[in-house]
Amino acid sequence: FASEVYGEVVEHTFHVGNLTIQRLCRSQMITAVNGSLPGPTIRVREGDTLIVHVLNKSPYNLTIHWHGVFQMLSGWADGPVYVTQCPILPGNSYTYKFTITGQEGTLWWHAHVSWIRATVYGALIIRPRSGRSYPFPKPYREIPIVLGEWWNANVVDVEDEALASGAPPNVSDAFTINGRPGDLYPCSRIGTYKLTVIPGKTYLLRIINAALNTQLFFKIANHHLTVVSADASYTQPYKTDVVVVAPGQTTDVLLTADRPLGDYYMAARAYASAAGGQFDNTTTTGIVHYEGSTSSVPLMPVLPAFNDTPTAHRFYSNLTSLKTTLNAHVADHVDERMFITVGLGLSACDRNATCGGPNGLKFAASMNNQSFQLPSTLSMLQAFFSGVKGIYTEDFPDNPPVVFDYTNTNPNNSFNPSLYMTEKNTRVKKLRYNSTVEIVFQNTALIGVENHPIHLHGFNFLVLAQGFGNYNPVRDRKKFNFVNPQERNTIAVAVGGWAVVRFKANNPGVWIMHCHLDVHLPWGLAGAFVVENGPTPSSRLPPPPPDLPRC
Ligand code: C2O
Repeated sequence: FASEVYGEVVEHTFHVGNLTIQRLCRSQMITAVNGSLPGPTIRVREGDTLIVHVLNKSPYNLTIHWHGVFQMLSGWADGPVYVTQCPILPGNSYTYKFTITGQEGTLWWHAHVSWIRATVYGALIIRPRSGRSYPFPKPYREIPIVLGEWWNANVVDVEDEALASGAPPNVSDAFTINGRPGDLYPCSRIGTYKLTVIPGKTYLLRIINAALNTQLFFKIANHHLTVVSADASYTQPYKTDVVVVAPGQTTDVLLTADRPLGDYYMAARAYASAAGGQFDNTTTTGIVHYEGSTSSVPLMPVLPAFNDTPTAHRFYSNLTSLKTTLNAHVADHVDERMFITVGLGLSACDRNATCGGPNGLKFAASMNNQSFQLPSTLSMLQAFFSGVKGIYTEDFPDNPPVVFDYTNTNPNNSFNPSLYMTEKNTRVKKLRYNSTVEIVFQNTALIGVENHPIHLHGFNFLVLAQGFGNYNPVRDRKKFNFVNPQERNTIAVAVGGWAVVRFKANNPGVWIMHCHLDVHLPWGLAGAFVVENGPTPSSRLPPPPPDLPRC
């Protein structure tokens, strides 16, 4: 029998519908999966096949994305609306089926249409296949810590209002840990997330940032944390007292209950990059309770200031991969070099609207000044598979259309509207099967100075280097880590900074790459790769499943 066949079939049904819950002294109707927030935790082993029947009983269009899953030859299950499928309409269903190979750790799932991912999300935990173990001592227990963001409003309405006005959306009213805001918010003491630990034991916390628009600092009072994995890719153990996690990212840490008996807060609050913009300045908490402790007042950690970029940068740049044998193909050889600016911009105001952006314009966002528009008559993957023209064009500009000081230290830039105005289109970059791609991301920091967590579907990339200022190809190439670069699916491109990544395009299909701050996605901070089929039957995208939602 074939020795490469392993793994089991894990099957779930997601009933997606309205749920009325109490948060922050009010009752609010949300869209939820199986009546809970967060939705169900999915546990699989590497090599398993996951089958999830999604029944849309909500009033909204729906898709589910399996964030970080490679989806090797199963692009039809990836989920971003109009990229790999049309929406599951209210009353309809779709079954996602895919095998998880070559990755272990913490990933997650979320809706990938409009803002309903604010409440439609959950953990996806991939343990080693049977007979294999973690590259660290086996923890006593494993605990998902899912960070979220909460509005005292219908989130789809919040988004629609923002898009109609052209202004930034209302900031959230709370952050949450496993769906709960915690002690510091009104009416939230009951139900605060509590983790009871046994003194001396070690716990694996699987931290996921499912917040919509906010990068977060996370800390536990008086405890060190040891990072062992990020984005389901093992890291060299890295000891820290603070974790920084951008929307889309996950970080697994070991927590040892080695402090005096007591209660300690775990807490998260915004890392908002820079002053100026509005952000939710509140703090979510949970409690680490030592079994046997009788103390009633938990100790609070001191979180970094909201704009503590040095702390965020130290955390991110200190992570390295546990692997020290880099895929030689990726290290030695680059087939496609791209330079991509990521940042905010402006676009013309719709007729008859009062636009809330600067100079009466509307906020937009772009990669190389291209504001990505989703099609609506056919998914991009269907167009790719069936050779339908006109859904997208293959002329994404690889290099920035204008050359300027990306960090905007040149005051003349402030008066040059051509730097801000973006073009709307659906331009993709076509890649040959198995080509190695290098991308330099440059954060433009022209308007709205913030990090952009850029997420690539279908692949992990190796983060070769990151820094601040304008990327300098001569100087900065010397900083590339070819020994043990961290592997991620989401890279926070620092405010006024850059990052260089590489990946191998070994999976045919259409893969969106976008900012995981959801406010920036409808503004256009996205792009897509079309990876051609390979030469053999086993390197070609199979036909769509019969129940794939059509437009
Ligand atoms: Cu977690 Cu395209 O998303």
